[in-house]
Amino acid sequence: MSMEDAVAKHRMGALAPSSFPPTTKPVMLRIWDPFVRVFHWLLVIGFAVNFFEIVRPGKYPHRVIGYVVLGLIAARLVWGLFGPRHARFIDFVRSPRRILQHLGDLLRHRDGRYLGHNPAGGAMVVTLLLVTLLVGVSGWLTRTDWFFGVKWMEEAHEILANFMLALVAVHVLGVIHACWRHRENLVLSMVTGRKRAPSVSDARPAE
Ligand code: HEM
Ligand code: HEM
Repeated sequence: MSMEDAVAKHRMGALAPSSFPPTTKPVMLRIWDPFVRVFHWLLVIGFAVNFFEIVRPGKYPHRVIGYVVLGLIAARLVWGLFGPRHARFIDFVRSPRRILQHLGDLLRHRDGRYLGHNPAGGAMVVTLLLVTLLVGVSGWLTRTDWFFGVKWMEEAHEILANFMLALVAVHVLGVIHACWRHRENLVLSMVTGRKRAPSVSDARPAE
């Protein structure tokens, strides 16, 4: 065996677990559990139906959808504490310093690939969960004895819903950027739950 062959073999041994099949097909890992996936797409549908007035604002179906969305958020908050690894807040909630560092890396095209949410994505997830909660609660308040017919609460509900749409736009741009940067289909991953295993060709080791 030549020296080069020996080095290559040694490297393969060090980098690739022996269980990897000898194939060029990427190894896929289960990342998003069924709850997270169903939660995500129901949230998207619920928001879209209420926001784009597919049902009339304030009427019974709008309110029912709003409460379902609130239920989804409540369940997600519990799942964030007790769910599987990548669903947990501890897996993707990072310090402001780490988030800024990731955004800086992103501008320099040096942002690493993550199996779960990246630090900036994690911050957006938490923001989206909180703002969705505020949209639902403000909607509910417009129907209570305290705020029934109170104009500013109705306006607050509408403004929060518009703000949420702006956040969703940034969220989708972030997803598109990460898809392009790491050459993977993250939207499909939110459907199948699977992502490509980390490899040496990734921009940086995944966390
Ligand atoms: C995902 C959750 C929700 C979204 C995205 C949403 C979105 C909206 C939007 C955009 C409007 C303003 C429509 C317009 O006047 O142009 C609206 C109005 C309204 N929503 Fe919601 N809503 C949600 C949840 C709720 C909930 C949970 C309730 C009550 C139980 C509620 C009650 C109302 C009422 C009463 C109005 C009419 C207020 C008015 O007269 O201006 N909404 N909603
Ligand atoms: C109402 C609109 C949307 C809301 C409120 C929303 C909210 C969220 C939330 C809360 C998560 C975190 C999932 C979790 O850990 O539970 C997430 C992740 C994700 N969303 Fe959305 N989303 C919306 C629209 C979309 C759309 C339209 C797309 C497709 C382009 C999309 C693609 C994704 C992807 C790919 C992830 C995983 C990101 C990653 O790999 O780190 N989302 N979204």
